[in-house]
Amino acid sequence: MTNSLRVRLLWWLLVPLAIYVFVTGKAAYDNARHTADLVQENTLLASARMIAGEVEWSDGRLLVDIPPAALEVFASPYGDQVFYNVSVDDGRLLAGVPDFPTRATTTHDSPNYYDADLDGKPVRAVGFVRQMYDNGAIRRVLVSVGKTQASRDAMIRELWRPQLVRQIEMVLLAVALACIGLTFELRPLLKVKEDVMDRDPMQLEPLRVERLHTELRPIVEAINQCIARLGLQVAAQRRFIADAAHQLRTPLTLLETQLQFARQHREMEPTLSEALAAMQRSNRSMVGLTNKLLLLAQAEAADYTQLAKQKVDLAAIAQDVIEDLAMFAQKREIDLGAELAESAWIIGHEGLLSALVYNIVENAIRYTQPGGHVTVTVARDAQRVTLAVTDDGPGIPAEARSRVFEPFYRASADTEGTGLGLAIAKEIVQAHRGEIGLSTGEHPARGLTVSATFVVL
Ligand SMILES: Nc1ncnc2c1ncn2[C@@H]1O[C@H](COP(=O)(O)OP(=O)(O)OP(=O)(O)O)[C@@H](O)[C@H]1O
Ligand SMILES: [Mg+2]
Repeated sequence: MTNSLRVRLLWWLLVPLAIYVFVTGKAAYDNARHTADLVQENTLLASARMIAGEVEWSDGRLLVDIPPAALEVFASPYGDQVFYNVSVDDGRLLAGVPDFPTRATTTHDSPNYYDADLDGKPVRAVGFVRQMYDNGAIRRVLVSVGKTQASRDAMIRELWRPQLVRQIEMVLLAVALACIGLTFELRPLLKVKEDVMDRDPMQLEPLRVERLHTELRPIVEAINQCIARLGLQVAAQRRFIADAAHQLRTPLTLLETQLQFARQHREMEPTLSEALAAMQRSNRSMVGLTNKLLLLAQAEAADYTQLAKQKVDLAAIAQDVIEDLAMFAQKREIDLGAELAESAWIIGHEGLLSALVYNIVENAIRYTQPGGHVTVTVARDAQRVTLAVTDDGPGIPAEARSRVFEPFYRASADTEGTGLGLAIAKEIVQAHRGEIGLSTGEHPARGLTVSATFVVL
């Protein structure tokens, strides 16, 4: 059987109801038949009695005059055929159809009902005996009346069919109501489904149970417990990465100092000196990676409600970052410009926002060819503060744009980097409930604008 709740419920409803309708329908049919038989037999007997009442002696002979009323009792729109036969026990036929299949009773006055066949038609008949006395002679007169079954069958139909139709209508109504009811009652469950489907993978708040049916609550509560455990697990993992990165920093810094010290040794073989220089480069990139991992873990763990509830000026932060990166820009022959609003206050974490601006501006300087331009804009209106960093470098191909925010994804392999910069930027913006996006400059094939928008509170 299918697994649909609707179909299963319908089976539970339909099968017992169908059996019920069948059983009660059968009982109703038997009842209707019994009633119709009774009415038919009473009419047959009444007719036979009327005819028997008209049998009389005349000059020592028995005669009968069939009263019209005896046949009129059978009048109906169904065109039943009526047969009768009045015969005496000496074999004489007084009236009626000679080959009528008679069946006499032994006792007089008690009618005998039977089914017979006349001219190929099934008939219901009654045999009724009247004793006639005259001059010491006793004669038994047998009056038999029979009729075809059309009006009786019609009566059964009229008694039984409406009842059956009503019951079938009731079953259909029950089925329709069950379907409609289920559609309505399943809505809260579908809401839960939407709630789960629309979720960000890292959104680990419990599902709402208030509006749910008592029967569904345990399921959602179990899911919530699972989400809570998942949350603990994720937090533990983030803590682990943060701790690991933190722990790595000390030995790496130590190594840097040791390498620097070693390289100061004058009488050193040139090859050894080269090897030490290479080790120092590797060590620096390891320090860079460790710092970025730590920052990513911090940004991921940052929660808007727990962010330092302080107001920070994004324009001032941008100004500091530009000053920090001025040397780097100069080295790469990049014209680094700024259009900063006088002040742009938002609620947030200064260290994280500073890292955000740094990563985006550093990318623009690093990936733009020498002689290029990079402009940092911080603009403000009544509701929003927008940071935009525009360059006229190579830009990011459309197919890579959706992936550059993933950790460790790099669009070009010929430059150095960890691939974490934009992933960190995205986490920081999300932690501040802002939005980050990429767009191309005026020239669609060149340049890139990375913008982050925050709501002013
Ligand atoms: N302004 C830009 N112009 C062209 N390409 C860019 C720009 N900014 C980012 N990209 C591309 O997006 C990729 C991802 O950038 P992201 O900052 O995340 O990593 P990264 O710069 O390679 O490494 P990291 O910043 O961690 O040292 C980069 O490798 C680069 O190919
Ligand atoms: Mg970068």
